[in-house]
Amino acid sequence: MTVETMPGPRPDAVQAHRGASALAPENTIAAFRKAAEQGARWVELDVALLGDGTLVVIHDVTIDRTTSGSGSLSDMRRSDLDGLDAGSWFDGRFAGEPLPTLDAVIAELGALGLNANVEIKQHAHHRSLDQLVQTVQTAIAQRAPQTEIMISSFDPEALRAMHTLEPELEMAMLWGRPPEDWEAQLATIPARTIHMHFKALSIGLLEETSKRGIQVRAWTCNNPVQLVSFWDAGLAGVITDDPSLFLP
Ligand code: G3P
Ligand code: CA
Repeated sequence: MTVETMPGPRPDAVQAHRGASALAPENTIAAFRKAAEQGARWVELDVALLGDGTLVVIHDVTIDRTTSGSGSLSDMRRSDLDGLDAGSWFDGRFAGEPLPTLDAVIAELGALGLNANVEIKQHAHHRSLDQLVQTVQTAIAQRAPQTEIMISSFDPEALRAMHTLEPELEMAMLWGRPPEDWEAQLATIPARTIHMHFKALSIGLLEETSKRGIQVRAWTCNNPVQLVSFWDAGLAGVITDDPSLFLP
């Protein structure tokens, strides 16, 4: 079997993790643009609140790793984003790339022809879950008509709260590995999708989930060979730093 003949996902089953984060600085417009250039139809991104309630697209709870600045999101306000460089740490070619708000990203998705998996990070400084999910709802309401949104989270409470506001959206429960009682837990969560670390996948799990009408996507996999046995068993998608690896 060659790479060309290996089983693989349909193009709309490939999600670019934090954008095409192998090729551009994660969770920036540049990374989403790169994903679109590669032919991806979906991007995954992380959202969290600043101290003043501004919703930004960032993975960590501080800006230290991915920007020219330092400090905790909880101590920041919207004006602190001005002049931050979220690109140079990755490569000088991306100098000056902003740390984006979710509003700014939503405004770009339509033009880029992208859909988004919005991962809600539930950090300790998020004092109000209601505020968090309402802010997500306000941002995604601005999407272009053709843009699809789904929600994922490691926090079942965030999925429950978001589902109450947006019952039509697909929700995905994020697990590193399935809990022993995954079926019982999932029954309490308004999600029919599991996003699972790819190393925790098994044919048996995919057979069990398929039987129950639950779909599973794998994160974060950057080697198609590692998933080759799972597509025929019903794996629904992959979240990857380099979508070109999985796209025709
Ligand atoms: O969507 C799955 C993946 O993004 C979860 O892990 O740490 O990259 O947000 P993390
Ligand atoms: Ca994520």
